[in-house]
Amino acid sequence: MAGDVLQEVAEAARLREGAEGVRALLRVVHAQGPIRLRDAAIQVRLPLPVAAAVRREMEKRGLLTRDAGMRLSESGRRLAEGDLGIAVTADQTCTTCGGRTIAVGAEHASLLEAMRDALAGRPSADVKLDQSHGTPETALRRALLLSETGLLAGRDILFLGDDDLTSIAAALARRHLGLGDRGRLAVAEVDPRLCEFIRVTAKRLGVGVEVHAADLRQPLPAHLVARFDGFVTDPPYTVPGAALFVSRGVAALRSGPLRTGLLSFGHKDPGTMARVHLHLAQMGLAVVRVLPRFNEYEGAAILGNTSQMIELATSDATRPLVAGAYEGSLYTADQERKMAGPRQPSTGGRSRAGATSSGSGGAKRGSRRKKPKP
Ligand SMILES: C[S@@+](CC[C@H](N)C(=O)[O-])C[C@H]1O[C@@H](n2cnc3c(N)ncnc32)[C@H](O)[C@@H]1O
Repeated sequence: MAGDVLQEVAEAARLREGAEGVRALLRVVHAQGPIRLRDAAIQVRLPLPVAAAVRREMEKRGLLTRDAGMRLSESGRRLAEGDLGIAVTADQTCTTCGGRTIAVGAEHASLLEAMRDALAGRPSADVKLDQSHGTPETALRRALLLSETGLLAGRDILFLGDDDLTSIAAALARRHLGLGDRGRLAVAEVDPRLCEFIRVTAKRLGVGVEVHAADLRQPLPAHLVARFDGFVTDPPYTVPGAALFVSRGVAALRSGPLRTGLLSFGHKDPGTMARVHLHLAQMGLAVVRVLPRFNEYEGAAILGNTSQMIELATSDATRPLVAGAYEGSLYTADQERKMAGPRQPSTGGRSRAGATSSGSGGAKRGSRRKKPKP
């Protein structure tokens, strides 16, 4: 049975997305083969090592060949077209924005140049803090999204962790778009190198960005609580990471409905995403929209590093899930180490062994496989 083959491949590759994940890859290869593994992995939102494991299992079963990229073998094609009834359909994704809603276009060229200049010389990524460098386009796209949500003009925004310098992008965009300089742009960041770099960069560019040294495992300092209209965060791509950083973001917001949160998060398997969304719902946050592949990270040319943007709105029942100090595992590596032991992380994070796709964060975790991290 065709379904059995897909299931077999999913099990052999230890793919949490199961047979449907294998079918998705098969469908992309059928429609676009020969296709590079990286391009297919981005489309099906699997980290590169995970997609590679599925490819290997499909090859073992004679379903795929490699010839200037992946393509279906004769028996792969028979399986796709016959038993599975997969039809080749045209790509309907918007060609202007690539499905991200926000496009960084020619009209933003000078702004993009300024952002590239701002990012030059930023501290190297500290994998112990799950840092991973977003591209200048990503920082700018986030700033344009902030503009679209109405936050950029005159509202107070807190950036919880900011190795991508989204705060600087917001300040530059505000100036470039003629939005004035009303409204606080504040960063809470644990890495002293980044705190210093953002301060120096803001001064050099003549823009107002406040930087607060803060470890988000501790409650926010009182002067940052209930002072903001919106928050932006790209937390560690673990379930506790999302729960903690969003909790601190919520604590920073003024009370009442329709405050905005922008949460970046990896394209994880459905089980992990369901747990993240459960925590968002427990915090009384509504998901306004999800923009796939919104964020891109350096190394994308090799690894297909992307993550999604989740826009959140507060309700009148919004409250943080984590209110006090947090002492559980948080970072990708900590969680995976912890999973080697007998106990589960308290907020329900769950790792996966082998070639599976929830261990270390969307496609970005692919880059960590080159580093000491998973
Ligand atoms: C967590 S990293 C991005 C992680 C990325 N989404 C991933 O998992 O691949 C984003 C920012 O959060 C900062 N950060 C990490 N841990 C933090 C903490 N405990 N308190 C404050 N900022 C933190 C990092 O220094 C960095 O600037």
